[in-house]
This record gives sequence, structure tokens and C-alpha cells, in this order.
Amino acid sequence: MATTISILSQKGGTGKTTTTRTLADIFARLGLAVLAVDADPQGNLSDYFDVSPDASPTLAEVLAGQVLATEAIHNGVIPANLQLAESELILAGKIGREVTMRNALREVKRDYDIVLIDCPPTLGLLTVNALVASDQAILSTEAQYFSLQGVEQAMEIFNLARDSLNPDLDLLGIVLNIANMRTRHARGARESLRSRFPDKLFNSVIRQSIAYAESAERAIPILDLKPERGQDYIDLASEVLTRLRRKDLLAALERLRQDRVPASVRR
Ligand SMILES: Nc1ncnc2c1ncn2[C@@H]1O[C@H](COP(=O)(O)OP(=O)(O)OP(=O)(O)O)[C@@H](O)[C@H]1O
Ligand SMILES: [Mg+2]
Repeated sequence: MATTISILSQKGGTGKTTTTRTLADIFARLGLAVLAVDADPQGNLSDYFDVSPDASPTLAEVLAGQVLATEAIHNGVIPANLQLAESELILAGKIGREVTMRNALREVKRDYDIVLIDCPPTLGLLTVNALVASDQAILSTEAQYFSLQGVEQAMEIFNLARDSLNPDLDLLGIVLNIANMRTRHARGARESLRSRFPDKLFNSVIRQSIAYAESAERAIPILDLKPERGQDYIDLASEVLTRLRRKDLLAALERLRQDRVPASVRR
């Protein structure tokens, strides 16, 4: 039975999709069976998996109960497009609207080790559905003055999902993303997050690099395009696996590092 992890944030452009894509790639390279779910009508994750924009069926049909989740997997991802925005509106008027995704993914979870859900940049019904369908959540945040505030708002939705519908939901961690740690305000953001969430902030920081935009645009995982950049994500994956109590995979992760990252920049 898969461990399901939602990647969310209170606002847009915090690196959620890049984190989902890259962790999916790394876990797959470790030999895990990984399913990614694009829960964002923008469909960025689907693009990153190189799934055609008119691929069908998508998450919209799965949530509508028209097809099984297994029938909607293309290239390792259940994709999304603008139709998902319509699904969200339709869902809003239904009984059980918050548990639709959980029910829709229940069967397919048996076939995977990890399911990663990429949330949209709003804390609306799709994000609540993703959290209710998950065992764990990763909060992504940029290193800005208002990071703490954004994380607090995302935590409110997290708490709501846990307290009302999914008591087993855990916060796996908070990742500082697209960060330029040379700036004082980024370091300040890190310190305020660390003092507010001492056990939850990941030590690994995903540094800012233009390589990620190219990776997404060309639909080539960062470990293939710029492995030295991907090292930040190898560090993050190591912490994620440790928190998931999968230390048995750390040796394979270090072999992946040796294999992909040039010795001169290896940590
Ligand atoms: N570490 C990074 N450094 C620089 N740019 C990055 C980094 N990670 C992602 N990006 C780029 O920043 C933009 C936003 O990233 P991404 O799409 O992963 O964020 P998101 O939180 O999923 O956005 P949205 O909320 O719109 O779904 C993209 O153009 C992406 O290529
Ligand atoms: Mg996104």
C-alpha cells in the first residue's frame, strides 16, 4: 500500500511541481513504484512528465467517477488540464466532496509504493481533497519575508483536513524552495521558520537555479539535465526517506549520488 504525500503551499510559484516531479524521479530511480497525481488544473506536472495536453482520461474523469484511476495513468502520472477546474466546481455541490479523491485513489494505491500529489496554488477544495487522500504533506515555501505567514495559512488547511476528515495525516516537513541563501532576508525567513517549526523544517534547501525552468520546459528531470543541481533534491530525498522510516533506501540513494553527481561538487 502506497504512502501518499501531498505537496502544497499557500501561494503560487513556490516550487511544488518541481518538487513533485523531482522526488518522483529520484524515488523511481531507487526502484520504488511511484505514481504522480496532477491535482492542478494548470497541468504543469503533466507537462513536466511530457504528457500531451490532450491526453485523456485525466484526473477530472477519475473524480467524476467515469473511469478508474488505473485507466488514467499516462507516463507515470494521472494528468490534469483546465477541465479539472470545472470538476472542482461540480464537486463543490456534492455530498462527500472532500473525500472524492481519497475514494478514487484507494484501489490504485495498492499497486504503488509512493503516490505524490501536486496541489494547485490555492487552498481550495482540490487541495483539501489531496490532503484527505494523503498520509503525509510536504509544505513548500519560498524564502521571503512573508514565508512564515504563508506557511501558517497552509497549516490551517492542513489542520482542518486532519481534524475533520483525516486524523492520520502527518506533516512530513517544510521545504525552503527556490532559495537564494546569500540574501539576508532569505536567511531571516529560514530562521523564523526554524524557530516556529523546529522539528519540521527540512535542513536541505532547494537553491535557486535557472536550470529548473529549462528542466520543466524540456520535460527532462533535473538529474538528467543538470545533476549537480539535482543534488539539493537528493539531500531532500534523504531527509524525506529518513522521516518515512525508509533508511533502508539511503544506501541506494548515495549510489545514485555517486553515479549522477560529478565528484568535484559531490557532498
Ligand atoms: N529551485 C528553483 N530555482 C529557480 N527556479 C525554480 C526552482 N524550482 C522551480 N523553479 C521555477 O519556478 C517556477 C515555479 O516553479 P513550480 O512550477 O515548481 O512552482 P509551483 O509551486 O508548482 O507553481 P504553481 O503554484 O503555479 O503551481 C517554474 O518556472 C519553475 O521552473
Ligand atoms: Mg505547480
